[in-house]
Amino acid sequence: MIFKTVGVVGAGLMGSEIALVFALTGRKVKLYDTDSSLVDQAMQRLERVLGKGIDRGLYDPSVIDIALPRIERCEGLDHYSDCDLVIEAVFEDEAVKARVFSDLDRFVSNDCVLASNTSSISITTLASKVSESRRSRFIGTHFFSPVSRMKLVEVIPGLDTEPLIVEQVMNVCREIGKTPIEVKDVVGFAVNRLLHAMMIEATRLVEEGVATPEDIDVACRLGLGHPIGPFQLMDATQISLSLQVQEILCGAYGDRFKPRPIMKQMVGAGYNGKKSGRGWYKP
Ligand SMILES: NC(=O)c1ccc[n+]([C@@H]2O[C@H](COP(=O)([O-])OP(=O)(O)OC[C@H]3O[C@@H](n4cnc5c(N)ncnc54)[C@H](O)[C@@H]3O)[C@@H](O)[C@H]2O)c1
Repeated sequence: MIFKTVGVVGAGLMGSEIALVFALTGRKVKLYDTDSSLVDQAMQRLERVLGKGIDRGLYDPSVIDIALPRIERCEGLDHYSDCDLVIEAVFEDEAVKARVFSDLDRFVSNDCVLASNTSSISITTLASKVSESRRSRFIGTHFFSPVSRMKLVEVIPGLDTEPLIVEQVMNVCREIGKTPIEVKDVVGFAVNRLLHAMMIEATRLVEEGVATPEDIDVACRLGLGHPIGPFQLMDATQISLSLQVQEILCGAYGDRFKPRPIMKQMVGAGYNGKKSGRGWYKP
């Protein structure tokens, strides 16, 4: 088994389930969040995730007692010195991530591989936050939500990442039941460029009155075989997040990713999707 002890930083939506998928394959996992109450909430959520998986026949009922105890709650990153791999999944903010990586740089062993789950920050930029000698062991691992169910991981080498590390990280992804693809360190990597090109066109169709959000979702599900339509997806993940990603993509690639005006209007009005009570779909 490669990477026997895995540290995860950030116990939010992504970090908690990343911890789970490693624990499910027999690895020892360390989990830290600045807010320890969020680690408690994460553990309760993971129990529910496993419960649903058991109901659907995906896991044996014994996993709850076996996998969850493998996740050790840590009080700080100084407990990560025996980790072989650490995956960072804190807020999408370069300064916050930079602090985490410079701390990890002090505490983890020389052999430890550091990975970021960032969706939009350059891996090479994040690698520059650790000492030069560690940059060959720094990589991007972009998981998809919900991590327990989504099979893809974009593996993103930075400028200095050693090919051997890329291979080891691709292999560990396979060991935890994922399918990794190697992607260059460009803004949006591959999947977000594809997704937002489609979301922007879907929004343009609605603005032009060509079809309703509901019918476009039906078209994507029944005509293209997507499991969920773009408007349902935007509502589930908050429209403001899609807007933010499109602004980043527009900054990198120009007008082809320019967010549609209606997105700004909706976010400005507080119609931000499911959590806010109203988005493309009304209650
Ligand atoms: N949500 C998604 O669908 C998705 C998909 C792919 C990648 N990502 C990326 O994954 C990362 C995490 O996203 P998320 O949706 O889980 O966010 P989240 O807000 O649910 O969780 C982030 C967690 O990080 C913790 N945190 C913040 N600063 C910290 C620090 N210094 N040390 C330890 N913990 C800290 C927060 O308390 C919070 O619990 C982001 O970089 C995001 O862009 C998210």
